[in-house]
Amino acid sequence: MSRALATTPSTPPQPLPSQLDGTRLPAHVALIMDGNGRWARQRGLPRVMGHRAGVEALKRTLRLCSDWGIGALTAYAFSTENWTRPGEEVTFLMTLFESVLARELEALEREQVRIRFLGDLEALPSRLQDLIAAATARTAVNDGIHFNVCTNYGGRRELVRAARRLAQRAAAGELDAATIDEALFADELFTAGEVDPDLLIRTSGEQRISNFLLWQLAYAELHITEVLWPDFDQAALLAALLDYQGRTRRFGGITAAS
Ligand code: IPE
Ligand code: IPE
Ligand code: MG
Repeated sequence: MSRALATTPSTPPQPLPSQLDGTRLPAHVALIMDGNGRWARQRGLPRVMGHRAGVEALKRTLRLCSDWGIGALTAYAFSTENWTRPGEEVTFLMTLFESVLARELEALEREQVRIRFLGDLEALPSRLQDLIAAATARTAVNDGIHFNVCTNYGGRRELVRAARRLAQRAAAGELDAATIDEALFADELFTAGEVDPDLLIRTSGEQRISNFLLWQLAYAELHITEVLWPDFDQAALLAALLDYQGRTRRFGGITAAS
């Protein structure tokens, strides 16, 4: 069951736009939410105001993905490299994550969203870790959209962690190293159990992956938009999905027409 992520229980779900083919939607959308700082600078505001506005864009996007029947949304909220930013910005972001999570948990629960946080969570402030644990547990049985928030996430670190976990199991005699295959490896990633993203959306025009889902994006279609993340709205999501539906996915093979 998929219901709207409503700010109030009465917010009606948005229907799927008629231009989209409901049978060919991506099952999993990955999202690099970039451009918050530039959005703020353009308005003469401190960078952190861009992050605050970015939260509203994420709520909008999650609600639309849920309403339109997309199965999973994985959003990049904080990378392992983002710790190099000025201390005040990092502190602001951690506090923002805490307050948003505390404030939105009830709505997530009500709307059947299953939230998970992917990344090296032990390095996060303990208050945030507690909120994450509570939100994950409280929404674990929900049958709506899978909402994955990558927090202190790095693709390389995730791959190294998977290799280390497999090596430890092999050393303990639980696993024969010769049996390690792609499926076994994928089971050690934070995204275990989730299908790979079909579509990656990156805002603010940057044409790079920035250490996001290095394994999982192997065959994702890429949609890069100039829209800055806080401005990302229904029209921008529709454009990304139309772009996706116009692609021919080949996965290294050939299509009937070629
Ligand atoms: C993305 O916006 C949010 C995070 C990385 C936390 P940025 O803060 O990177 O915004 P720009 O790229 O500086 O405009
Ligand atoms: C990617 O954006 C990380 C997140 C959106 C959390 P960055 O702004 O950190 O990436 P670069 O530095 O432009 O590659
Ligand atoms: Mg950026």
